[in-house]
Amino acid sequence: MDLNKKIISLCKRRGFIFPSSEIYEGIGGVYDFGPLGVELKNNIKKAWREEMILKHDNIVGLDASILMNPKVWQASGHLSAGFADELLECKKCRKRFKADEIKKDKCPECGGELAEPKKFNLMMKTFIGPVEDKASITYLRPETCQGIYINFLNVLNSMRLKIPFGMAQIGKSFRNEINPKNFIFRTREFEQMEMQWFCNPKDADKYFDYWKDERLNWYEKLGIKKDNLRAIEISEKDRAHYAKRQVDIEYHFSFGWGEIEGIHNRGDWDLKNHSKYSGKDLIFTEEDGSKYHPYVIETSVGVERSLFAFLSEAYQEIEGGRTTTTKSIKEAEVLLKLSKCLAPVKVSVLPLVKNKPEIVKKAKEIYQMLKPNFMCQYDEVASIGKRYRRGDEVGILFAVTIDFDTLKDEKVTVRDRDTMKQERVKIEDLINILKEKINV
Ligand code: GAP
Repeated sequence: MDLNKKIISLCKRRGFIFPSSEIYEGIGGVYDFGPLGVELKNNIKKAWREEMILKHDNIVGLDASILMNPKVWQASGHLSAGFADELLECKKCRKRFKADEIKKDKCPECGGELAEPKKFNLMMKTFIGPVEDKASITYLRPETCQGIYINFLNVLNSMRLKIPFGMAQIGKSFRNEINPKNFIFRTREFEQMEMQWFCNPKDADKYFDYWKDERLNWYEKLGIKKDNLRAIEISEKDRAHYAKRQVDIEYHFSFGWGEIEGIHNRGDWDLKNHSKYSGKDLIFTEEDGSKYHPYVIETSVGVERSLFAFLSEAYQEIEGGRTTTTKSIKEAEVLLKLSKCLAPVKVSVLPLVKNKPEIVKKAKEIYQMLKPNFMCQYDEVASIGKRYRRGDEVGILFAVTIDFDTLKDEKVTVRDRDTMKQERVKIEDLINILKEKINV
């Protein structure tokens, strides 16, 4: 089984990701995040927010609405040809494909003849209010950043900001992709983490390089190997319609290199167009009285795509197993070596046996004690070796085992996911020891 299939299977089996509307045979290109998936997603978002907002003293947050006045999308260029893919339809099986993914001029599914390419706009249409006519059409946003541009003056004035400064937000975006594929890599509903850095046009090149390096470092800090990351300069003909310069950060997935983040110099495209369409001048006035439309350097990550990259990087299969003390050493063991801050569950609490009420009682007390401090899981089903492996498979950092000796010496065993080393610690020191080890 290839790595992609193994990850998809793990995600379903262990409660990370499910196909949406599965009991109704699904809906193309949409996924639901289960209990572990949502923790992982939240940890990624937390790590991004800490990096972008807490680490810098001039980046502020925003949570703009998904629905906006449709004029926003005229101004941004998303309703015109710039935000459309070329679509090819097979005359025989009627399947549709993105033109830039077709290598030959025949249908990749049935070999049939393909019709002339058509432009297909990716905006998701909806209606505001009870009447479904042309005047009530609006769109689900295809990128979160437009909410930032249209709030430029609100935030600038209310927060008394000076150029350069950034605005960051995390939120859902929607694109009516022709051909969603590769699991959560290309979907129709996804989340973006976008930061817009407003600067003087003369400083745009300097900041572009700064943000590109910062963003590459972020992935490495969270455990992605340098060799699996690359930054690709996009040529003028392939750039997004708003970009003066574009670098895609790509990850080496099992299906090939794929973009996980875009770094864009959007120039004054957005602020100028919104000024023109709204009649409100979105300019910045320097202390010396000079006025200009700031340039925007954008960093734009997909939460799901980066999550997929973190999962792919973390997934390890150890043939023959890592454990030498149990019978099941013949089986391949899965280890999800997510970084400490991303691991969805930090600690598992395991009574050595489940048929000794004193041990179970003690384990439940310890679970209750740890729960307010760490994302914990209580597990008493199956042998201790199996439970360790079950934890390793979803990346649980530490397993705390309560055994017969615990009842006498008030100590538990703490097992490290990565080294499998075990140490005996006093229950009264447990929270502090785990806090020190996890350090997030
Ligand atoms: N505001 C700029 C912007 O939206 P983009 O390159 O179109 O730029 C940025 O998208 C990121 O959003 C991508 O690098 C990817 O991580 C994510 N993304 C875009 N389309 C996606 C899709 N259909 N499914 C999942 N993620 C997507």
